[in-house]
Amino acid sequence: MIDALPPQGIPAEQVLAELRGLRSADLPTHGGRLFAYVYDPARAGLDQLAMSAYALSAHVNGLDPTAFPSLLATENALVAAAARVLGAGPGTAAPDVVGSVTSGGTESLILAVKTARDAHPEIAHPRLVIPSTAHAAFAKAAHYLGVELDLVPVDPVTCVPDPAAVAAAITAETVLVACSAPSYAHGVVDPVGQIAAIAAQRGVRCHVDACFGGWALPFLRRIGLDMPAFDFAVPGVTSMSVDLHKYAYTPKGVSVLLHRDASLRRPQYFAFADWPGYTMINPVISSTRSGGPIAAAFATLRHLGDEGYLELARQTRDAVTGLAAAVAATDGLRLLTPADYTVVCLTSDDPELDLFVLADELAARGWHTQPQLPFEGIPASIHLTVTASVAPQVAQFGPALAEAAAAARAQGPVRLPEELLAMAAHLQPDQLTPELVGGLAESLGLGGEPGAAPRLAVVNTVLSAAPPRLRERLLVEFVSLLQRPSW
Ligand SMILES: Cc1ncc(COP(=O)(O)O)c(C=O)c1O
Repeated sequence: MIDALPPQGIPAEQVLAELRGLRSADLPTHGGRLFAYVYDPARAGLDQLAMSAYALSAHVNGLDPTAFPSLLATENALVAAAARVLGAGPGTAAPDVVGSVTSGGTESLILAVKTARDAHPEIAHPRLVIPSTAHAAFAKAAHYLGVELDLVPVDPVTCVPDPAAVAAAITAETVLVACSAPSYAHGVVDPVGQIAAIAAQRGVRCHVDACFGGWALPFLRRIGLDMPAFDFAVPGVTSMSVDLHKYAYTPKGVSVLLHRDASLRRPQYFAFADWPGYTMINPVISSTRSGGPIAAAFATLRHLGDEGYLELARQTRDAVTGLAAAVAATDGLRLLTPADYTVVCLTSDDPELDLFVLADELAARGWHTQPQLPFEGIPASIHLTVTASVAPQVAQFGPALAEAAAAARAQGPVRLPEELLAMAAHLQPDQLTPELVGGLAESLGLGGEPGAAPRLAVVNTVLSAAPPRLRERLLVEFVSLLQRPSW
């Protein structure tokens, strides 16, 4: 075990060597073979620039923008850039747009929901309407903020929500309607125009969650892709979120939340003067926050520039087209949803080709994808978030996919013992004890050597058999077992 507080300090080089050693067990953040979690533009020198900028501002504190004008200036510049990318700003249909920099998509969404809730203090039991494919961060926001969630199912084939069903879900207590551009799981852009029009007609705010693709879609449109309007050009859209730490390729910790005007944003702020310390005024959830991620984002955007993002969009599109063709060419596999933007989402039509086994076989060959469990008539799938760094890897993906599919077929699907399936289907979440989860994790081979690639197909099959509440509880207990002090 590594002691974070040794009796005597360790020389800098040695500490860095230790960290490098720990990092070597991680999935590869660069190289275009990890299709989730990371966004890699594969631009020489960009990491170094971002890290230098980060170091310059790491100790700057966003608590007070008047004390650190550099932070205010860079934040305002990032907000203006995000607004411009999303169809707002001078000379557009949303000239009075304002915004804030947050730590990530989840914080942006929590704040969008909080702002909508606090705009209606007269509503005792506020409600949020979202398609069931909207990001789980909305559920987290609703849970944290005491807002009821109204989930609108999507078409299980297209994964698109029906605007009429959204309309039917709106009540007098609805404070916000939200939709995605695009959704994370399947890369589908919701019918923003229709949903925003319905919300506007009912006098309800409408948030477009463009956290995932909001920095990709506008550049893809400019290189010639056809897509419906999804941004501030759409009347009725009152707020939008876009994560810079996704397709703007900045280091982690930066998202932008935009509101069509300052009056819509006002309930986002938290100010408190009834205590003896400094008067607190926070636009976001954190109070003290580092200037590091913001400076790094600013440096990344300025260095790449508009032209740079257009080029990255071209490379990403080439990669998506190549990966989609590889899927189409593989017997038994097909695209679950059209690979229209930056996501490739595939599924299997062959009962002998188990997607969870396939994902493990791909991982064993160095290709790290994201399996997705079946959900309300939508089959299990494998998700690939595609970034510019994937382009040079595409030629090797096809053969790897064919080989992994053959290996998965040879192994056959995961077949769980009947007792385990029955337990997964019927166990009540409250019956789960840490001991039971520990035993289960061990029997599924999850207690293995750190760094050894776990075979997750069995775990995913167990989770697929369990209802969502039990899945959640299993995951909580499991992660709680992992998160223990390393004495
Ligand atoms: C559409 C969408 N919204 C919100 C989020 C949450 O973002 P974060 O992980 O930065 O909190 C994500 C993350 O993937 C996303 O894809």
